[in-house]
Amino acid sequence: MLSFVSFVSFVLAGILAASASASEGELALRAIDPCAAIAGQKWVSPRDVRACFTSFKVDPDIKANIIEVVNKTLAFHTSVNYQKLAPEPFTADVHEDLLFDLARISHQSYPSDFDLHIDMSRTLKRLNDGHCVYINDCYDSVFLTFLPVPLVLLTDARGAQDVHIAPEAFTVASAEFADELDVWQNALPGSLKGKLSSLSGAKVLLINGADPFVAVNANALITGSFQGFGTRQNSFFSSYNRASTGWNYIMGNFAQMSLPLADSATLTIQRINATRPETITLPYRSRKNAATSWTDSASFRANNCVATASTNGVDAYADTAKRADNPSAPALISPAAAKFEQQPPISLVDRRRHALNVILDSTPLQDVVLPPVLTPQGEVPGGNGVAQFFLLDDGKTGVLALGSFSANSFDGLERAMLTGLVNLKAAGASQLIVDVSNNGGGFICLAHWLHRIIAGPKKTTVPQAGLDTTTRAGPLAQLIVKTIIADPTGVDPADFLLYNPLNWAFPNKTGGLTFFGPTDDWLEPLQRKVINGRQDAFAPRMADICQPFDMEPPAEQLFDPKKTVIVSNGRCASSCSLFSITMAKEEGAKTVVLGGKKGVQQQYCGTVGGQSTDFSTIDTEVKTTHLKNNTLAPPDFKTNSVQGITWRLGFGIQDPSQPEEWQDHPADVNLALTADMSVFIFLPIPILIELTGFEVLTILRRSGLR
Ligand SMILES: *[C@@H]1O[C@H](CO)[C@@H](O)[C@H](O)[C@H]1NC(C)=O
Ligand SMILES: *[C@@H]1O[C@H](CO)[C@@H](O)[C@H](O)[C@H]1NC(C)=O
Ligand SMILES: *[C@@H]1O[C@H](CO)[C@@H](O)[C@H](O)[C@H]1NC(C)=O
Ligand SMILES: *[C@@H]1O[C@H](CO)[C@@H](O)[C@H](O)[C@H]1NC(C)=O
Repeated sequence: MLSFVSFVSFVLAGILAASASASEGELALRAIDPCAAIAGQKWVSPRDVRACFTSFKVDPDIKANIIEVVNKTLAFHTSVNYQKLAPEPFTADVHEDLLFDLARISHQSYPSDFDLHIDMSRTLKRLNDGHCVYINDCYDSVFLTFLPVPLVLLTDARGAQDVHIAPEAFTVASAEFADELDVWQNALPGSLKGKLSSLSGAKVLLINGADPFVAVNANALITGSFQGFGTRQNSFFSSYNRASTGWNYIMGNFAQMSLPLADSATLTIQRINATRPETITLPYRSRKNAATSWTDSASFRANNCVATASTNGVDAYADTAKRADNPSAPALISPAAAKFEQQPPISLVDRRRHALNVILDSTPLQDVVLPPVLTPQGEVPGGNGVAQFFLLDDGKTGVLALGSFSANSFDGLERAMLTGLVNLKAAGASQLIVDVSNNGGGFICLAHWLHRIIAGPKKTTVPQAGLDTTTRAGPLAQLIVKTIIADPTGVDPADFLLYNPLNWAFPNKTGGLTFFGPTDDWLEPLQRKVINGRQDAFAPRMADICQPFDMEPPAEQLFDPKKTVIVSNGRCASSCSLFSITMAKEEGAKTVVLGGKKGVQQQYCGTVGGQSTDFSTIDTEVKTTHLKNNTLAPPDFKTNSVQGITWRLGFGIQDPSQPEEWQDHPADVNLALTADMSVFIFLPIPILIELTGFEVLTILRRSGLR
């Protein structure tokens, strides 16, 4: 395994390679106010962004506030003590003692507020848990830092696996970065100058002078989000996702960074048909988020770095304009975390009505367009936004491309899942591929719904098609419940709060679900556990309350689950994990990961959770129950920060006594991608994969060769 130090030297190598091309006037201005120097510009050098970001010293009060909010919010995160050391197969991947870390950070000094931020952000990312992420809108993705050469991992005819510049790299870059392409064209050396397009498809022999997997593995140590090492390797590479408005190209961590931490990359490449290797250095360039602006350091701080109306929670019944019991008014405000949720925007009404399990990332979802030539053909009607349906040329394989379990309308997506699958069946499909590449989760009950309608009514789908869960029952959580049940109609008349017992059900399910009553103390009796040597307490096991669904599910299965294959790059999280795990472990669906490194066990999903939420939502629970004065209550964030958590944790299927989170999710097949297959997207060019009892005909062909 690589040390953190090796990653730092990887980054530093890039920083030191930066070119110094600023004019004297710019330098003078930068010396005075480095944030003024980059104000109003769309594209700048990462070094100039860092000059602005590192110009702010640590304010001890602000630092103490961040640590206190995060520390006290973590009391509501189910997994803190588990993550101190996860069981096999994730022992080597998850071993972060957050309480120790926060103590370390509070004693450590930092040259700048930005350095403090990097430590906070990476410390939480080392949990490899996409629910429990610390983000500060002051720095994260204010600029995205790009290279025009996304990378992919391809296997050749002899079975050798190599990193390549994506064959579609120039098509993507010339469309997305049209206004910056010249900078990269002119950065190419000698006869390559202006020939960026000729790099597409090139084999990458070295990155910054080392084997490419030095950089891949260094990134795997800091990218976060997924327990599986193979999945975090895959994050380095480019990929795709079905978004609400079309097909998105995902640049991957090499070609897109949320912080401006490298200035260039030096690649030794072998271009297609070239006889000898060439070495090129391309500068990273930072593009400003269009939604923000400033003129100098003071306005940079004011506009980006202080708490906004959505950073902290509210007393749900104090502000009549936002009253949760007023059906005509929007229920509360959208939390600041919404921007970083890896799902399309959802309505406030749906957010209030339907629980979420969705990962956060320091980069909001981007809309880099997948080149139209790569988009799949053979669409079957019934699709809606993130859910699209296709019939492959064999006439019997249906595909559901599902980019998220959320959409701008919960009901719309629920209906689309049903209509599209029924249409696929009517069109002749007898087997199903569900492509969940980069599906970050979404509405929990839509994961249950999709499982239920594919597999039909049976013990594993009715009255619950997901996992039983538990929530952490710390002292403040107990007080919140006691406050609600002492006066249910007074404290939470609209049954709005997460801790209201009316929202959950007993785990016994014979004859249907039984909801808790309004005065049931559902955290009692406390389930005391010692986890990694630390005392902890959880609520008794409970059921989810998705059923009866608000739409009629079919009386019989739509597809044989054993003739269903779930395909992705492994980056399927949260509600996507709930769906995939129940389909694979309970129904026998097959799982395929695309393009993982050979010899590395691929996980078909990660970051399971059960229900995710964030600091501001917990703060609303605290404020609405008037417990903000309690010493255990997190204070308000003073900064523009977000802290995500896992609020409910699902119990395992194979070992029901332990969380599903750190149980194994090994993919049945790691499908090697070749240059004449697409890295992307099922196209109707069949490739036979041998899987037990099922011919999977897919997928995946680079359409340039169609
Ligand atoms: C975090 O909170 C715990 C109490 O839950 C406390 O003992 C610890 O000192 C706090 N850590 C920091 C760094 O403030
Ligand atoms: C490489 O060479 C082959 C054979 O001459 C040719 O068909 C192909 O177009 C070349 N590819 C590129 C990218 O130059
Ligand atoms: C489940 O358990 C609760 C509490 O013991 C009980 O009131 C309820 O009737 C049970 N429900 C079912 C469906 O068995
Ligand atoms: C907190 O305590 C102060 C002083 O006792 C009181 O004035 C205030 O209303 C309390 N705030 C809340 C939210 O309970």
